[in-house]
Amino acid sequence: MSQRVFITGGASGLGLALAKRWIDDGANVCIGDLNDERGADALKELGDNARYIHCDVTSEEDMKKVAADLERRWGGVDIVVNNAGVATAGAIEEETLEQWQWVININLLGVVRGCKAFTPMFKRARAGAFLNVASMAGLTHPPMMSSYNVCKAGVVALSETLAVELAPYNVQVAVACPSFFKTHLDETMRSTRPEAKDMVRHLFAKGKLSADEVADFCFKGLNRGDFYLLPHADGRTAFRAKRWLPTRSYLNMMEKRTRRMRND
Ligand code: NAI
Repeated sequence: MSQRVFITGGASGLGLALAKRWIDDGANVCIGDLNDERGADALKELGDNARYIHCDVTSEEDMKKVAADLERRWGGVDIVVNNAGVATAGAIEEETLEQWQWVININLLGVVRGCKAFTPMFKRARAGAFLNVASMAGLTHPPMMSSYNVCKAGVVALSETLAVELAPYNVQVAVACPSFFKTHLDETMRSTRPEAKDMVRHLFAKGKLSADEVADFCFKGLNRGDFYLLPHADGRTAFRAKRWLPTRSYLNMMEKRTRRMRND
């Protein structure tokens, strides 16, 4: 039977690339998003095995409705990708609490809502998989983006918790932690610094992988049963350094990298 996949934030960037990857594999895919116009364009690209549903991850009601709708329509869901996200940046004393609350509500609580809405279905089926999209920022935390880092570290912690909590029910959990790659993430970005968007665009431009390559890596990693999905080689190196180096040496390395980035 074809796999049944639901992807939040599936109208653009990584979500859309993942949708394409699963469609190519013969899956039925439902993408949820806020941006209905991009959702409609995405459907044209994805073809007949895809559907679009308006789903705001900040609404528990929307998430529950999608879960119920897909269970009615498909008889269940095999994979839920909690991918929808936005970007924030700023120095700690500058970022407002409103900005913190905004990003936490989408990037962290959005994933929580996705896991809460679909876990009962997965438990009943004694099967299913969550692919939660965090970021390298959730594992190694660059300066000037504390609210984003905290959300993504929260997604990593949630995923690790659920990997163990849901294992007795045969439910798989994986967490994707990519570094920068080109998408529309800069469009929704909020920052106290006007130059932040340009900086992100610059980092996108320097990104070594495309959204399709990141999606392919995550698709294969999930199929293999991997937990951490780290598509970028420099990300894998940084994570290894954090785990294996003495903390001071790791922090020195991060400071050096930051200086280099600032000079760039
Ligand atoms: P994107 O902006 O191209 O796609 C994000 C999608 O999420 C958009 O279609 C947007 O409309 C949707 N969205 C935003 N708020 C939503 C909400 N409340 N409810 C439903 N949908 C919502 O950006 P991208 O890069 O594809 O982002 C996907 C995920 O990848 C995010 O969680 C992001 O944090 C993560 N990520 C991206 C990286 C990058 O360099 N692009 C690096 C690491 C992680």
